[in-house]
Order: sequence, then C-alpha cells, then structure tokens
Amino acid sequence: MFIRSKFTELITEPASGDYEGAEACMHTCSTQRGTIGNECRLPFLMLLCVLVPLTSQAPGQTYAPPPPPEQPSDYGKVVIENYSSNTGLGPVVFDHWLHRSKFTCRLCHVDLGFAMQANGTGIAASSIREGRYCGACHDGKRLFEGKTIFGSCSAESNGKECNRCHSLGKRGARKYHYWAFTSKFPKGVYSVDWEAAESEGRIKPVDSLEGIPVKRVPIPTADDFSIKADLPWVHPILFSHEKHARWNGCELCHREIFPAAPKKTVQNSMFLHIEGRYCGACHGKVAFPLNNCSQCHPRGSI
Ligand code: HEC
Ligand code: HEC
Ligand code: HEC
Ligand code: HEC
Ligand code: HEC
Ligand code: HEC
Repeated sequence: MFIRSKFTELITEPASGDYEGAEACMHTCSTQRGTIGNECRLPFLMLLCVLVPLTSQAPGQTYAPPPPPEQPSDYGKVVIENYSSNTGLGPVVFDHWLHRSKFTCRLCHVDLGFAMQANGTGIAASSIREGRYCGACHDGKRLFEGKTIFGSCSAESNGKECNRCHSLGKRGARKYHYWAFTSKFPKGVYSVDWEAAESEGRIKPVDSLEGIPVKRVPIPTADDFSIKADLPWVHPILFSHEKHARWNGCELCHREIFPAAPKKTVQNSMFLHIEGRYCGACHGKVAFPLNNCSQCHPRGSI
C-alpha cells in the first residue's frame, strides 16, 4: 500500500494523537542535531520522525529521504557516462563541491545549459571541442584566477589532462581533493556550510563568463517570505528569495521548478521534495540534504 494516500488522509482529518506524536518527534529531530552530528540522517530516524507518528505502516512500506552519502566528497558527484564508458578513457567524474566554490549554479545551469539531472545534458566530445558545456571553460585557453584552465577532449591536450576528467576508478589522476580543498571552509551539519562560506567571503562564486551571453527572464522582484505548510502544527518554513537568488538567479527556479510564480499556488509537500521536485530539485542532491530538517523548519518550532 502506498503511503501517500494515508498521509493525505491524515492531513485532512487528523486524530489529535497523530499531531502530538509528530510534534514530539519533529522536536526530537531538531534537538538530535548536537548529539548525532547529522540529524535524522539514519533511515530509521527518518521513519520515526516523518512517518511513524503519522501512520501505522510497517517500515518496509514507508517512503523517506535517503541518507546523503557517507563521504561528503561524494555529495553532488556526477558520473557522466553517456558516450565514454566504452572508450579507453572511461567515464567522467564531475564534482559540484569544486565547481560551486568558483561559479554560481545559474551560470552553469542557465547560461551554459547543463541539465539538472545526471547524464541529462548528453555532453559529447564534439560539443566540448566547439566550446560548449565543459568546453566553455576547459578549452585550454580561458584564464581563471590568473591561471589557464586545462583543456578537454582535444588533440591539443595531453593524456594526463584527459585523466583529470576521465577519472572514474583512477587513483592519482586528480589535483584537487575534497578534504584539503575545503579544510578552511565553515562546516555545517553535513559537509561544508556553503551559505556561511559565501557570506564570510571564503568563496566568491562568479556569475558570468566573458563571451557567454547571460540569459535572464524578466520576473517581478520578489520579497523574502515564509512558506506555510498545510499541517497546522508545522511552523512556517524558512525560505529566503534573496539568498537563493545569489546562487540561482531567478531563472533556475522560475518557471521550471516553481512555475506558479507570481501566484503562490504550488501545493508541495515533503513527499514531493523527497521525489526530487520543488525544494528537492536541489536539496538532497547538491544544496544541503533534506535530512537537515531544522535548516528549513526552524529549530524547536515543530
Ligand atoms: C561548473 C558548472 C556547474 C555548477 C557551478 C553547478 N552545476 Fe549542477 N551540474 C553541472 C553538471 C555538468 C551536471 C551534470 C549534468 C549531466 O550529467 O548532464 C550537474 C548536475 C546537477 C544536478 C543533478 C544531479 C544529479 O545527481 O542528478 C543538480 C540538482 C544540480 N546540478 C544543482 C546545482 C546547484 C544547486 C548548483 C549551485 C550550488 C550547481 N548545480 C552548480 C554543472 C554545474
Ligand atoms: C564555468 C567554468 C567551468 C565549467 C563549465 C567546467 N569547469 Fe571544470 N573546472 C573549472 C575550473 C576553473 C577548475 C579549476 C582548474 C585548475 O585550478 O586547474 C576546474 C576543475 C575541474 C576538475 C578538477 C581536476 C583536478 O585535477 O582535480 C575536473 C575533474 C573538472 N573541472 C571537470 C569538469 C567537467 C567534467 C565539466 C563539464 C561537465 C567541467 N569541469 C565544467 C571550471 C569549469
Ligand atoms: C574537462 C573535462 C574533460 C577532459 C579534460 C577531457 N574530457 Fe573527454 N569528455 C568529457 C565529457 C564530460 C564527456 C562526455 C562523457 C559521456 O557522456 O560519456 C567526454 C567524452 C569523451 C569521449 C567520448 C566520445 C564522444 O564523442 O563523446 C572521448 C573519446 C573523449 N572525451 C576524449 C577525450 C580526450 C582524448 C581527452 C584528453 C585529450 C579528454 N577527452 C579530456 C570531459 C572531458
Ligand atoms: C530557489 C528557488 C527560487 C529562486 C532562485 C527564486 N524564487 Fe521566486 N519563488 C520561489 C518559491 C518557492 C515561490 C513560491 C511559489 C509558490 O508557492 O507557488 C516563489 C514566488 C515568487 C514570486 C511570487 C511571490 C508572491 O508574493 O506572490 C515572485 C514575484 C518571485 N518568486 C520572483 C522571483 C525573482 C525576481 C527571483 C530572482 C531574483 C526569484 N523569484 C528567485 C522560489 C524561487
Ligand atoms: C535551484 C536550487 C534550489 C532550490 C529549488 C531550493 N534551494 Fe534552498 N538553497 C539552494 C542553495 C544552492 C543554497 C545554499 C546552501 C547550500 O548549498 O547548502 C540553499 C540554501 C537554503 C537555505 C539556507 C539559507 C538561509 O536562509 O540561511 C534554506 C533555509 C533553504 N535553502 C530552503 C529552501 C526551501 C524551503 C526550498 C523550497 C521552497 C528551497 N530551498 C529550494 C538551492 C536551492
Ligand atoms: C529544503 C527545505 C526542507 C527540509 C530540509 C525539510 N523540509 Fe519539511 N517542509 C518543507 C516545505 C517547503 C514544506 C511545506 C510543504 C507544503 O507546502 O505543504 C515542508 C513540510 C513539512 C511537513 C508538513 C507536511 C507536508 O508534507 O507538507 C512535515 C511533517 C515536514 N516538512 C517534516 C520534515 C522533516 C521530518 C524533515 C527532516 C527529515 C524536513 N521536513 C526537512 C521544506 C523542508
């Protein structure tokens, strides 16, 4: 039996015991943070917090956010292998932790047109050689922070450079390593606290590239607002337009992820976030994971 119908039922007609149980549990989730270091990270805690109080389902039938990878270096790692797995070079590894420290999400996902789905873009060596996708930067010519960015997929780059990207399963191919690279960055519940890294000025993500037109959609200015859940005991969720726009511009969310603006009509729920829609399009894959409940639900408020 799929749990969502049960869940919806409880949202419309809750028994008071369900609310109390869920409330107590959300509180536990929020206060666990200090002790286990990563609140609600374990699947059983997730079940306990989201599902058990609201339903009487057995754990096997439930639906919860998967825990983020054990190693924060693997969070946001994309293995690109549409065309390269059968070549001698092997699949390509792309890391968000390295690139997001240097560039905004908007630059890559709007101006350069990368899909927000692993292997969704269909990048080929030929388009890279034409200066698109990875080749917009990795052309062996573009300067960044005073250095030339290494080239890709071209006869002019040497074999050692090929392995820096075509690196799956190859030891020693890469120059940058997560722990050394992020050692001075502020850390959050899970991995780097990117919001703090940006506001403290540790990183200054670049939002445009010379020679690449900036794609902007005219949208009326937005104020910060809080999102109210349908359940009365869930306090308004924290959401800052201003902070999100710094990374994502407007175009990454409007209109694909949140098509409803300027009318607040999106009926989202935690289930949909867990499926990777709405907030879950980024949170759970690249932005902090959905398991960090209190980063969206003010701590102690639910
Ligand atoms: C340097 C370019 C670049 C930057 C900066 C960047 N991304 Fe990506 N992103 C990519 C590429 C490349 C992919 C994989 C696309 C493919 O495989 O076709 C990707 C994939 C994704 C995915 C899908 C991951 C998956 O496992 O399915 C999400 C979500 C995403 N990016 C969000 C973000 C967010 C949020 C930011 C900013 C914090 C960001 N990206 C910054 C290039 C970038
Ligand atoms: C917006 C510019 C930009 C785009 C687009 C981009 N990169 Fe990068 N990438 C960089 C910069 C800058 C560095 C740091 C280079 C340096 O310091 O040598 C880098 C570093 C890397 C590294 C680290 C290599 C090492 O030795 O540790 C890998 C791997 C990499 N990029 C893969 C990719 C792949 C794959 C794509 C396309 C899917 C891509 N990049 C798209 C700018 C970009
Ligand atoms: C900046 C990262 C990067 C570097 C460096 C790089 N590649 Fe690629 N390459 C890619 C990406 C991304 C793909 C697409 C992978 C896929 O979908 O399987 C790719 C695909 C390929 C393919 C698959 C065939 C095709 O038509 O797409 C070949 C062959 C290839 N690269 C050759 C090379 C060679 C040779 C070098 C070194 C001279 C090199 N690449 C260096 C990123 C890189
Ligand atoms: C991270 C995603 C995200 C980004 C980035 C984003 N928005 Fe939104 N925006 C939302 C959400 C969520 C809503 C509420 C939508 C709903 O409930 O239907 C919204 C609603 C709006 C609304 C309607 C507000 C109201 O009071 O009715 C406007 C206008 C808007 N956004 C403009 C912008 C502009 C301008 C930018 C860029 C500066 C931007 N947004 C960037 C997520 C985003
Ligand atoms: C397009 C990608 C994207 C979407 C969609 C998105 N976020 Fe974010 N969000 C980010 C990024 C990037 C950050 C920076 C921190 C990080 O990466 O961990 C962030 C940070 C945050 C923060 C911390 C900022 C602060 O105020 O201190 C909160 C809270 C947050 N998001 C809530 C939400 C909620 C709620 C939604 C859905 C309504 C949402 N986000 C949708 C990308 C996204
Ligand atoms: C990225 C931000 C974000 C994170 C992290 C997050 N939530 Fe939510 N949550 C939301 C939003 C937005 C809503 C409002 C959905 C709606 O419109 O009803 C919500 C709603 C809820 C609701 C009300 C029922 C529903 O689905 O609308 C519950 C219960 C809930 N969250 C529990 C949790 C728990 C437990 C965690 C940690 C495992 C968590 N949330 C993590 C953003 C988040």
